[in-house]
Amino acid sequence: MRAIYAVGNWKMNKSGRESATYIETLAPLVKNSPARVLLAAPFTAIGAAAAAAKDTSLSIGAQNIHPARDGAFTGEISALMLKEAGASFVLVGHSERRRLFGESDEFIREKVVRCLQSDLLPILCIGETESEREGHKTRAVLARQIESALHGVPKEEALKIALAYEPVWAIGTGKTASAETVEETHALCRSILDELLGKKSGEKISILYGGSVKPDHISQLLAKREVDGVLVGGAALDPHSFAQIVMNCKK
Ligand code: PGA
Repeated sequence: MRAIYAVGNWKMNKSGRESATYIETLAPLVKNSPARVLLAAPFTAIGAAAAAAKDTSLSIGAQNIHPARDGAFTGEISALMLKEAGASFVLVGHSERRRLFGESDEFIREKVVRCLQSDLLPILCIGETESEREGHKTRAVLARQIESALHGVPKEEALKIALAYEPVWAIGTGKTASAETVEETHALCRSILDELLGKKSGEKISILYGGSVKPDHISQLLAKREVDGVLVGGAALDPHSFAQIVMNCKK
């Protein structure tokens, strides 16, 4: 059985104090959640969020990491720092990082490796642009992103990651991919994982969907066999709307 995840990505929103208030509201609403509930906080709010989440079932993580252990990397944050602050997972390769901050496939691979070495769950984000989909390049793009991120990673380690399929054209646009497109693309990701890691490997990795997820279509998405949860941006900023999503992450 694959784990089901409901992940909130706050992006560059919420102070430490706001995070704590959010968690106090969310925690009782998702007490009997059918999914693991994860919140990706800004670096400066991880400590406060982790303290607020201490006696709850919520897990706190980061939206980014630097792959080096330590050193002269002004403005960056290491695995050790994240863990000390209370993070247990990291979003790696989010399309905003790839696009706005020029993160390369190789840099993303180094981040995945660092997370695995540090006992932080990497949630590897992948996805094609609208023109790539229209140009029938979806498979090639996703294969490149998955293969480069896991290049040289031993199979037993690679199986520990979670994957988030987030078509770039659906992020923050209000345009969600249809449940059928998501199902089909997740199956594609599983076949890429099988080719890379060996038969039936894809079945062992949780694949989440992200891109304009809202409470009203969560059940349709989760009804699909290949969908193991969601990564939510905008609709996770309000604890009530995120709670609705979380509580509908039933398989
Ligand atoms: P969105 O963001 O739900 O606002 O589209 C998703 C994401 O970027 O992870």
